[in-house]
Amino acid sequence: MPVDVLRSVVVLVHISAFAITFGAWAAEAAARRFRFTRLMDYGLLLSLVTGVVLAAPRPAGIDLNYAKIGVKLVILVLLGGVLGMGSARQRRTGEPVPQPMFVSAGALSLAAAGVAVIW
Ligand code: HEM
Repeated sequence: MPVDVLRSVVVLVHISAFAITFGAWAAEAAARRFRFTRLMDYGLLLSLVTGVVLAAPRPAGIDLNYAKIGVKLVILVLLGGVLGMGSARQRRTGEPVPQPMFVSAGALSLAAAGVAVIW
């Protein structure tokens, strides 16, 4: 498979990973459960792995915006922190995550996609 097609496949998986995280969040919001789910974690992990692969300067000559990639990485780490803290709290109390925490998770996920597409 030519390298540029392979790269496009990784981009497809990368945006699907975002869809998994944000979709899982939207489903919880729509069902008014307001819980963090494993699917959100899996989507985020997949975003990270595919993002790191895409951040490699391959094929030679592609133009990568490392400032933008860095900002997305920071957002991803923050989101990982929110999901981690929220999930632990959820397990401990059995209650849904506090509203501000739930809203932050969706906002951070959407912000990362916004940075990717609008910047
Ligand atoms: C939740 C986090 C993230 C979201 C929602 C996200 C979203 C996206 C989207 C929608 C694209 C396709 C549009 C574009 O090419 O700009 C993309 C491309 C890309 N992302 Fe992410 N991303 C995330 C995290 C990351 C991370 C952590 C990295 C690297 C460490 C990364 C590296 C890249 C790279 C290198 C590309 C390809 C850019 C290009 O080919 O010009 N992303 N991302």
